[in-house]
Amino acid sequence: MEQLVFATNNKHKLEEVQAMVKDFFSIQSLADIQCDVDIPETADTFEGNASLKSQYILEHYNRNCFADDSGLEVEALNGEPGVYSARYSGSRDMEKNIDLLLSKLATETHRKAQFRTVVSLRLDGEHHFFEGIVSGTITVDRTGAGGFGYDPIFRPDGYSKTFAEMSANEKNQISHRAIAIQKLVTFLKNR
Ligand code: IMP
Repeated sequence: MEQLVFATNNKHKLEEVQAMVKDFFSIQSLADIQCDVDIPETADTFEGNASLKSQYILEHYNRNCFADDSGLEVEALNGEPGVYSARYSGSRDMEKNIDLLLSKLATETHRKAQFRTVVSLRLDGEHHFFEGIVSGTITVDRTGAGGFGYDPIFRPDGYSKTFAEMSANEKNQISHRAIAIQKLVTFLKNR
């Protein structure tokens, strides 16, 4: 089976992606290749950060690989928190990040948002990007105990529950990451 390094240490994401591609690819994490570096994500776009991460693996390990960068973009906040989603409040504490976002939207009725993922694939000397978007609404309060990150306050369009109320399987059918990874998988299968 073809091997690809997924430049992440996030167990949630690794599990999501591994579940999606398990019949086609053997995915190795950063830990699997003994990479314990916190790869700098200094770009101000998802494309830039995903590209920095895949470039690092290519340069230092010379392996076919992909990296992703994602975040939540809220329309009424001009796309915030965007690339700063993981540390919007200045810390990685998601309780604080969600509190800050909800407080900024406290008097806001326009609550449209999207999760966006960009995947950067470095394969046999080529570089490709894949994008996934899921549109939805920021809820007024947290609901649900599943998922991670902003899942308790994001309700995807066409659904009456938040990502945090969905099973992992249900979220994996429709998530931004699933859409981007599905495009990646389709590309790899048709190559
Ligand atoms: P990453 O680049 O995929 O690690 O995402 C950066 C940040 O965006 C995460 O730390 C989360 O706060 C948020 N995020 C990304 N994907 C999701 C998701 O599927 N659910 C909830 N939050 C997410």
